[in-house]
Order: sequence, then C-alpha cells, then structure tokens
Amino acid sequence: MFNLDLWQEKLINDIGEKRFKHCVRVMETALKLNKSLNDEKVKTAAILHDCAKYNEEKYLKLYGVNIDSYQLQFKAVLHSFLGAEVAKKEYNINDSDVLDAIRFHTTGKADMTDLEKIIYLADAIEPKRDYPDVDHLRKLVKDSLDDALIFSLNHNLNYIIKKNDLIHPLTIEARNFLIKEKNE
Ligand SMILES: [Fe+2]
Ligand SMILES: [Fe+2]
Repeated sequence: MFNLDLWQEKLINDIGEKRFKHCVRVMETALKLNKSLNDEKVKTAAILHDCAKYNEEKYLKLYGVNIDSYQLQFKAVLHSFLGAEVAKKEYNINDSDVLDAIRFHTTGKADMTDLEKIIYLADAIEPKRDYPDVDHLRKLVKDSLDDALIFSLNHNLNYIIKKNDLIHPLTIEARNFLIKEKNE
C-alpha cells in the first residue's frame, strides 16, 4: 500500500515542498505514536492526509459529488473530506481505515479508531508545530491518546470560538464521546 517513491512527485507538485515536509513530519510522529497498528496503514494515512490541500476548487469539481452542500460551509475541513476522495481516486487507496483517518483528520468524530486518533494527534504535535499548549499536548500523548485528544479538541474549539468561526458538529460529537467514555 505505502509507496512514497510513487507518490512523492505528485504530492510535491500538488501541495508544495513545504506542506510535503509537514506530511513527512506527521508520518514520523505518527509512527512514534503507533503501538499496535500496521505501520503501512499509519504511513499511508499520514503522508496523504493533506493531499487535497490548496487544490480544493479543482478537486471539488472532480470528486465533490460525495460532499454535500452542508459540508461546503466548513472551508477548513474541506481538504480532509476531499482528501479521502483524492486518496482513493488518484493514489488508489482502497483501505477504508486509511481513508477515514484522512477524512476525519480536521474534525475528529465520535468513536474514533486508533488510526484516526494517531493521525489527528500527529498532525497537531509534529515537531514544527508551535503554539502555546503544544508542549503540554506532546506530554499528554505519551500517557493517553484519549486525554490528549480531549485536550486538543478543547484547544481547537476555543480557537474556533475566538475566531467567531463555524464549529463542525463532528468536532462536538468527537469531544462528547470521549468525555462520556471518560466519565463512565
Ligand atoms: Fe490538514
Ligand atoms: Fe496536516
């Protein structure tokens, strides 16, 4: 499944050198977080997670049929939903676990798989990420993916609220699920 030699040129062409390097760092971080999953799946989801970034307009025309008008209002999450379609059509990825990890890497969702959690968190803590709470988050992931995820979702929700931006309902569902599970 994982074939960087085959994808690298297209990826760099589509998302640029800088974003490609981010994807490599996400991949390296995700591999460190991975305890029990197949490394191939982790590497594939990580390297392709931003594959639709910066080309949303083009890909929306090509593969937007599966994305309903409701999702279109969430501009920041468009590349993740489209990314799953692009990974399927242009990188021949058929593994639904990998596609879902790409699809939900910006919003999260209720009852996330370990692969989805790892990609979401690796994206948030890769070594070049620099925001006030990132070091605390880097400590949290060492003990519990779920606690780290709650912290990261809270951080993102606060950020969205401060910007007066729209909150994607999946992010609320992701957080509610984890909080309920923790309180049970
Ligand atoms: Fe992204
Ligand atoms: Fe990313």
